[in-house]
Amino acid sequence: MKETLLMIISLIILFSSFLYVSPAKSNSVPTQCYNHPNPLNGKYREAVSCPTSKQKVITSNLAATGSKNMFDVTLTCGVKNVSLCDEVKKTFETAGNIISSALILNSIITINASFIDFCVSMGECGGKSGLVTLGGACPARSIPLQDDDGLVRLYPQALVKQFQFKTHPEYGPYDILAMFNSAGTNFWFEGDGNMGHDQQDFLYVVLHELIHGLGFASNWGDYINENNPKAMTPDIALVPDGSDSTLKFNGFMESAFDKYIINMSSGHRTSEITNKLNTFANETGTKFSDDDDFNAKFKSSPQYKLALNMMKTVITPSSLGFLPHDSNDLAEAIILETHLNPYQEGSSVSHVDFNTYNTTNDFLMKYLADLGVNLRTMTTSRGCTEIIGPKLKLILETIGYATSDYPNPYIPSVTITSNNLNTNNLNTNFSGNIESVSSASPKMINFNFETLIILNLVGFITTRYLLKDF
Ligand SMILES: *[C@@H]1O[C@H](CO)[C@@H](O)[C@H](O)[C@H]1NC(C)=O
Ligand SMILES: *[C@@H]1O[C@H](CO)[C@@H](O)[C@H](O)[C@H]1NC(C)=O
Ligand SMILES: *[C@@H]1O[C@H](CO)[C@@H](O)[C@H](O)[C@H]1NC(C)=O
Ligand SMILES: *[C@@H]1O[C@H](CO)[C@@H](O)[C@H](O)[C@H]1NC(C)=O
Ligand SMILES: *[C@@H]1O[C@H](CO)[C@@H](O)[C@H](O)[C@H]1NC(C)=O
Ligand SMILES: *[C@@H]1O[C@H](CO)[C@@H](O)[C@H](O)[C@H]1NC(C)=O
Ligand SMILES: [Zn+2]
Repeated sequence: MKETLLMIISLIILFSSFLYVSPAKSNSVPTQCYNHPNPLNGKYREAVSCPTSKQKVITSNLAATGSKNMFDVTLTCGVKNVSLCDEVKKTFETAGNIISSALILNSIITINASFIDFCVSMGECGGKSGLVTLGGACPARSIPLQDDDGLVRLYPQALVKQFQFKTHPEYGPYDILAMFNSAGTNFWFEGDGNMGHDQQDFLYVVLHELIHGLGFASNWGDYINENNPKAMTPDIALVPDGSDSTLKFNGFMESAFDKYIINMSSGHRTSEITNKLNTFANETGTKFSDDDDFNAKFKSSPQYKLALNMMKTVITPSSLGFLPHDSNDLAEAIILETHLNPYQEGSSVSHVDFNTYNTTNDFLMKYLADLGVNLRTMTTSRGCTEIIGPKLKLILETIGYATSDYPNPYIPSVTITSNNLNTNNLNTNFSGNIESVSSASPKMINFNFETLIILNLVGFITTRYLLKDF
């Protein structure tokens, strides 16, 4: 009986999610959004036009009770084992329930999730390289919004929906894409009994990844020196100009998360650096013949030194913090991961500091996960009752998610007026973050959420499992 009711409810949700009101005619400049079609390749983004629309979003009046799962997961399960598929589905539901009870979500968040054998379905078999991709998740679309400090930042669609704009840039069908390799590793599911020492709690991995998908991610990275990162900037908005074959530079673009990053030694916001980086266009202009032209001119500009200096900061322990809402006190900043040297794309900055938070109730977003211990045990052994720790909750509130303690978070504007570059044509094709390899110590199993490296000393065979984050 209860099951039937649930089925009807989810059918309604699935059905009505296609009930779009046709986009409103708008005479403003069409907004440029970015789709991230491949959760395993965050570097690949497609610029898509997302004209202002009055598209309906599924909301729920049950949301305020905090008891309803606000995540609508469409799962493609590619394994024949039906009970395994059920475990995967159940894990997504559990993760959805945990997040839904920590936040006040007013709009359903849709996830396109797959649990498939990457070797069979995508030819990703590890092979000679010894690399096995485990999976990953990312926002399916990021949307530029105008912040109150004059910068335009990219917001994940899941968050933009919570702002309930009457008209807004058009949404894509899913908010978060997630993909996990059924043949990649030895996942442990709740109810499986004793956990092996080399097993990973699938719930822990799913929750960690979904939080990234909700917007816990920095856009600071090296977009200039592909394989040898040395200069840090936000994403580079460099787009075809339309009129000719040149590219137009629309500025460096931070994520919603980046608005709150501060330099822990100076107390200054790193967005000040973004503003200074944007003056690059003053002398050079905004037209470039191609990426190489941009890179060469940026490298020889005075602004490039700021990017080189930022690299020093992101590899200096405890140098960057996230300043939560209603705080002007450095002591209240949440320390971000900057002790990794060399810089690790995706692991650095986009996590909380491992050394500070590993043993606290804010362990969920550290870059290294534990093997052989499950999420519930970790939570209770730290004397907590909530899996979403207090500091993680603060971060989510600060970027715009409401909670019962903080029901009226900051909301950016949907109307883009400036990016401190006097432009409203935001059109970028930029790279995202991929969390990647971390160093392995002998005979150990180093489980990065993003990378699992197993060093087999006997056979000198290295098997590396990659779990790619946004
Ligand atoms: C199917 O999955 C279940 C749950 O993970 C597992 O206990 C069982 O051994 C699997 N069956 C086969 C045939 O692999
Ligand atoms: C959902 O994900 C699967 C697997 O990645 C993909 O094949 C499919 O196209 C996705 N659907 C949409 C609508 O994005
Ligand atoms: C660059 O242009 C901005 C906006 O016009 C201006 O405020 C700023 O002073 C200029 N910076 C330099 C270094 O010329
Ligand atoms: C952070 O502040 C310190 C101390 O003022 C300074 O030396 C460092 O260059 C700053 N980092 C960045 C990226 O501005
Ligand atoms: C992280 O914390 C766990 C306790 O849950 C502990 O077992 C582990 O050794 C810690 N890791 C490091 C590297 O300190
Ligand atoms: C964006 O970049 C990718 C990879 O460099 C490229 O394949 C794609 O055509 C670009 N898209 C646009 C709209 O420029
Ligand atoms: Zn991560």
